[in-house]
Amino acid sequence: MRGLFISVEGPDGSGKSTQVENIKKFFEDRGMEVVLSREPGGTVIGERIRSIILDKDLKEMDPMTEAMLYAASRAQHVAQVIAPAIEEGKVVVCDRFVDSSLAYQGFGRGLGDAVAVINSYAVKGNMPDLTFLMKIDPETGIHRIERSRAEQDRLEQEKMAFHRRVYEGFLELEKEHPDRIVGIDASLPMDRIRDLIFAKLEELLG
Ligand code: TYD
Repeated sequence: MRGLFISVEGPDGSGKSTQVENIKKFFEDRGMEVVLSREPGGTVIGERIRSIILDKDLKEMDPMTEAMLYAASRAQHVAQVIAPAIEEGKVVVCDRFVDSSLAYQGFGRGLGDAVAVINSYAVKGNMPDLTFLMKIDPETGIHRIERSRAEQDRLEQEKMAFHRRVYEGFLELEKEHPDRIVGIDASLPMDRIRDLIFAKLEELLG
């Protein structure tokens, strides 16, 4: 039996990681095997690419280089981790996936449709069954992280206008894919968010 693929998306500081853990517990409590992963990263090659992408000293990085590095990390992740796990009937829960590229590189960097094209080669049809979009005003999100500027990665250091474009992008994607993307008000209390997500997962399992 084919497994399931769930991704969690949203601006930096939207509380994705907490919900990724909750989703893992949801499936494990039902006796299903869960593979947790994240992007960029998820494989040895992907984590190395991640360290290049997020290096705040590499300020000269061209947006297209950035988009291709995210896609390269994703291609390895899909081939080595995601596709095999789904094939084996496991549940893959991923902290960020292709929607992050469409929002950050497509909308944020203004690369538009090129991002979808590049990523179609990386994803090879392995799209999430369900994507939770943690909706929070990007300004609030960035403040929640409370990292000093020196500790922020290359993407977090971007100006607020960039983060606003990214967020608008996520909202566009939610509109374009209402069957796959479930928007969650990330300003709600943690247990309320968890309940909303669990209700949706119950629905998915039928
Ligand atoms: P993130 O999950 O926020 O890592 P951390 O929680 O350690 O900060 O991801 C790192 C950054 O990469 C984040 O700012 C979003 C960005 N990103 C893209 O721009 N495009 C992508 O395709 C992905 C997966 C992430």
